[in-house]
Amino acid sequence: MPQVSQLFFKVAILFLLIGIGMGLQMSISGNHNVIGAHAHTNLLGWVTSALFGTYYALNKEKAAQRLAMIQFGVYTLGVAIMVPSLYLLLQGNAVAEPFVAISSLIAFLGVAIFAFIVFALARERQMPRGPLAVS
Ligand code: HEM
Ligand code: HEM
Repeated sequence: MPQVSQLFFKVAILFLLIGIGMGLQMSISGNHNVIGAHAHTNLLGWVTSALFGTYYALNKEKAAQRLAMIQFGVYTLGVAIMVPSLYLLLQGNAVAEPFVAISSLIAFLGVAIFAFIVFALARERQMPRGPLAVS
C-alpha cells in the first residue's frame, strides 16, 4: 500500500476510536450533547479518511505525487483541530467557535485539493495516444 494510504488509515482508525469513545460517552451518560462532534469525527475522521486512503491505494500514480501527501497533511490538520474544538464547543465552551470555523475551512481545502487530484490526472489520461505509446 502507498505511504499516503498507510497514513490515512492510521489517522482514520485513531479518529474512529475517538469517535466511538464519544458515542459511548453519550450512550452511557444519556446526554447526547456532543452528537455533532461524534458524527463528524466518525464521518470526516474515519469514513472520509479511509475513502481517501482507499482511493490512493487504487491509484498508485496519484499516490506517488507530492500533492497527495500535502492533501493528507492539510485535510488531517483540519479534522484534527475540528474534533477537539467542536467537542469543546458543544460542551458549552464558546471560545472554541473560531477554531471550529478555521478547521472546517482547512478540511474543506483538503477536500478541494483531493478534487483537483482526481480531475487533473483523469484529464491527462484522456490525451490522445501517439503511435509510439505503450500499453
Ligand atoms: C459503539 C459505537 C457507537 C456508539 C455507542 C454511538 C452512539 C451514538 C449516539 C448515542 C448518538 C446520538 C443519537 C441521538 O441522539 O439521536 C449517535 C449519533 C450518530 N452516530 Fe453514532 N455511535 C457509534 C458509532 C458510530 C459510527 C462508527 C458512526 C459513523 C461511521 C456513527 C455515526 C453517527 C451519526 C452520523 C450520528 C448522528 C445521527 C443523527 O444526526 O441523527 N456512530 N451515535
Ligand atoms: C468541513 C466540513 C463540514 C462542515 C463544516 C459540516 C457542518 C455541519 C453542520 C453545521 C451540521 C448541523 C449540525 C447541527 O444542526 O447541530 C452538520 C450536520 C451533519 N453533517 Fe456535517 N459538515 C461537514 C462535513 C460533513 C461530512 C463530510 C459528512 C458525511 C460524510 C457530514 C455529515 C453530517 C451529518 C450526518 C449531520 C447530522 C448529524 C449532526 O447533527 O451532527 N458532514 N454538519
